[in-house]
Amino acid sequence: MSKPLLFTPFKMRGVVASNRAVVSPMVQYRSTDGMVNDFHLVHLGKFALGKFGIVFTENCAIEPRGRVTEGDLGLWDDSQIESHKRLTRFLKQEGSLAATQITHSGRKGSTPRSFDKPGELGPKEAGWQRWQVVGPTELSAGEPYSPAPRQLTAAEIGEIVKKFGAAARRADAAGYDVIEIHGAHGYLLAQFLSPISNTRNDQYGGDRAGRMRFPLSAAKAVRTNWPEHKPMFIRVSAVDGAGGWDVEDTIAYAKELKAIGIDVVDTSSGGLTGLSTALPVKRSLGFQVPFAAAVKRGAEIPTMAVGLILDGPQAEAILQAGDADLIAIGRQALYDPFWTLHAAQELGCDSDFDMWTPEYGWWLEKRKNNLPK
Ligand SMILES: Cc1cc2nc3c(=O)[nH]c(=O)nc-3n(C[C@H](O)[C@H](O)[C@H](O)COP(=O)(O)O)c2cc1C
Repeated sequence: MSKPLLFTPFKMRGVVASNRAVVSPMVQYRSTDGMVNDFHLVHLGKFALGKFGIVFTENCAIEPRGRVTEGDLGLWDDSQIESHKRLTRFLKQEGSLAATQITHSGRKGSTPRSFDKPGELGPKEAGWQRWQVVGPTELSAGEPYSPAPRQLTAAEIGEIVKKFGAAARRADAAGYDVIEIHGAHGYLLAQFLSPISNTRNDQYGGDRAGRMRFPLSAAKAVRTNWPEHKPMFIRVSAVDGAGGWDVEDTIAYAKELKAIGIDVVDTSSGGLTGLSTALPVKRSLGFQVPFAAAVKRGAEIPTMAVGLILDGPQAEAILQAGDADLIAIGRQALYDPFWTLHAAQELGCDSDFDMWTPEYGWWLEKRKNNLPK
């Protein structure tokens, strides 16, 4: 039997992922001053022990006001590099590629943690509205977390572009193999793309080319500051969930991103307005896979699929259909940090626990014979 695609290596520029399973970026609100700490090492380290090909950190802010909450990781200051190095060393030592996602929250910053109840906590206690958020205009994202943004000037947009570049330089110094720009879920870059949130009439607004100008400049700045041999991803919302930006727009955008040197489009959806749980499409198994397929075919660029992908056979079917090149696992990895190893067993390619770290695998293989038949 030929090896499942999920367990074939994926080469991106000068970097090779040992398999196609990826831990999706997931914010944990456990950082102080944007630093990586013991929690992040253990939380993400267990996915490397679980043999994911690529392990993504949560979104790392490129400046303090670009955080979603005060507990987010950051790459806005050189003093943060050393803390990230400890994490990247461990992930790589266990055979995963170390990946990070850089972001600016824009008007969706300074919010409570997802599980806080602002109705019970006052806004300040919930970490809400601690700083002045910024956006393309003064339009807020809507209820329930709707701090009023201040409109960015063209000069300030130029400064933010530079900060994306500086964060990429720090990510390289910290030892990351892969960088992703968070351009989805209604955060700053997505706020500029959609005509619902971007009603500016300067060079950063107006038609689609104007609305794409800032995100494309940020992507160029990252590519310039990120080594040529390392791959760069971008996460997009293929549809914004508010009716302003659709798949055709995303395909046109992905073509421009490809020309800049983006290697993989991580294809998510929604999040522009209101609750981040507002549904752009009904959530069912693999609900965003059609977006990854449309971008892959429309822009002829590798894509990563994400969203309710639960097991090995489902992931393998997506790859076999040619709908995506990589499979991102979010909540299912929280449920099962050894998802990749279990997927290998489901797909019949690791019955002897050879893929496991030998300290576990040797014992599990012995135990196999003692299990009830
Ligand atoms: C706890 C949690 C935190 C998340 N944080 C981020 C994040 O930092 N950046 C991001 O792009 N998406 C984030 N997401 C979205 C996930 O990366 C993923 O796209 C989403 O959960 C759907 O995939 P799933 O069904 O496999 O969980 C987060 C999701 C969860 C559950």
